[in-house]
Amino acid sequence: MLKINNLHKKFNAGTPNEVYSLKGVSLLIEEGTFCIVIGSNGSGKSTLMNAIAGVFRPDEGSIEIGGFNVGGWPEHRRASLIGRVFQNPFSGTAPHMTVAENLALASRRGMARGLGRLITRKKISDFKEAVNSLGMGLENCIDNEIGSLSGGQRQALTLLMATWLRPKILLLDEHTAALDPKTADRVIQITRDIVSKNRLTALMVTHSMQQAVNLGDRLIMMHKGQIVEDIRGAQKKRTMPEHLLAKFEELRRMEQLDYGATEMLKKNYI
Ligand SMILES: Nc1ncnc2c1ncn2[C@@H]1O[C@H](COP(=O)(O)OP(=O)(O)OP(=O)(O)O)[C@@H](O)[C@H]1O
Ligand SMILES: [Mg+2]
Repeated sequence: MLKINNLHKKFNAGTPNEVYSLKGVSLLIEEGTFCIVIGSNGSGKSTLMNAIAGVFRPDEGSIEIGGFNVGGWPEHRRASLIGRVFQNPFSGTAPHMTVAENLALASRRGMARGLGRLITRKKISDFKEAVNSLGMGLENCIDNEIGSLSGGQRQALTLLMATWLRPKILLLDEHTAALDPKTADRVIQITRDIVSKNRLTALMVTHSMQQAVNLGDRLIMMHKGQIVEDIRGAQKKRTMPEHLLAKFEELRRMEQLDYGATEMLKKNYI
């Protein structure tokens, strides 16, 4: 479960570059919920993910993950509860280590160091089986360096690593955006399988309206640092891409009206 209460974050506060990125975000994600996050560029989606992961401290508000109040926890400590996959296939893995070594690290997250003894025969066979199930042509690549894999293979593998120890929350930030459409579809399928098989609680940011309607059981839309839509249950199932596009259009028109009014005020027209 993820419980966020009244989260505020300003970057560069008090300077001309001040950006008010999170404006009182509250969100309760029940255990086992797969929640999709949409919103225009700069609406605060990644900032929300980073706040959960502990990349920075919010100015105000609280965050609870799986029953732990993680407010005072640094990023590395929160990593024991969180699985993350980023947009960039180069993030999240060690490029000069092999697939097996990366998986070994993922399977020991938060435990004592010492890679040498980690890779037992049993583990290798578990890794092989899991990697095979991805269907990404990684069957014979277990001893290859991660750096030699394609973007899609890396994202699938990162997903496997991020979920190996069943995190309390899985954070996916546009993790298929850098892939070609066919590979993106495959990684989405893998995402769906992993989340449902492990009954994970997940937040997934996407710009794809198709993904937003096809995946997950809850959908939130962010706009200017706030959650402006929260759709779930039967309503989520009925939601079509055109409904979401209409909402974006409505927000855009309101923004233009806002902008027009501000300009008029500046010019003392009203
Ligand atoms: N570390 C930072 N320093 C300064 N400003 C930041 C920082 N991180 C985010 N911002 C600003 O906060 C706002 C929200 O950014 P954020 O990255 O959360 O948007 P987003 O919804 O993820 O957009 P996109 O769809 O483009 O990824 C933006 O105006 C951005 O420039
Ligand atoms: Mg982002």
